[in-house]
Amino acid sequence: MTDGEFLDYKRVEQAIKKLLLTTPSPTVLQNVVDVLYDSVEKYSWVGIYFVKGNELVLGPWNGKQATEHTRIPLGLGICGAAAKTGKTELVDDVLKDTRYLSCFLSTRSEIVIPVKKMNVVVGEIDIDSDRPAAFDKHDTMFLEKVADMLSQHI
Ligand code: SME
Repeated sequence: MTDGEFLDYKRVEQAIKKLLLTTPSPTVLQNVVDVLYDSVEKYSWVGIYFVKGNELVLGPWNGKQATEHTRIPLGLGICGAAAKTGKTELVDDVLKDTRYLSCFLSTRSEIVIPVKKMNVVVGEIDIDSDRPAAFDKHDTMFLEKVADMLSQHI
């Protein structure tokens, strides 16, 4: 999906649904990350963190660069906040958010969507964009559906 085109989130959602039904478990989460990264141009970095004890641990990711934040204490950063509250965090301007843990100099906005099992946060999807205010209610709704679908794979 590129700028100016209709953002066909439904189509990507269906592709992810199919993937989750047909791909063996060791690779499925990496495949979902890859689909998100490849399908939506404004998604500059996509990763999944798992909750392990009182930390978030980075799992599959796709983007131009690796992040140094491979382990984040719960409550720290935008990722830690979403994990602690269980609510999606949408940050239009990361430079104005004092919680922000910087990974890439190019990042301007970020969205973090918790993945829950029986209402307990077990992981999250973290997406950075190099564009300011890249994420809107369509991204939120779409990614919350994807997070729901991931629940049984984490
Ligand atoms: N920016 C995140 C840290 C993870 S990186 O974006 C990959 C945060 O503030 O928690």
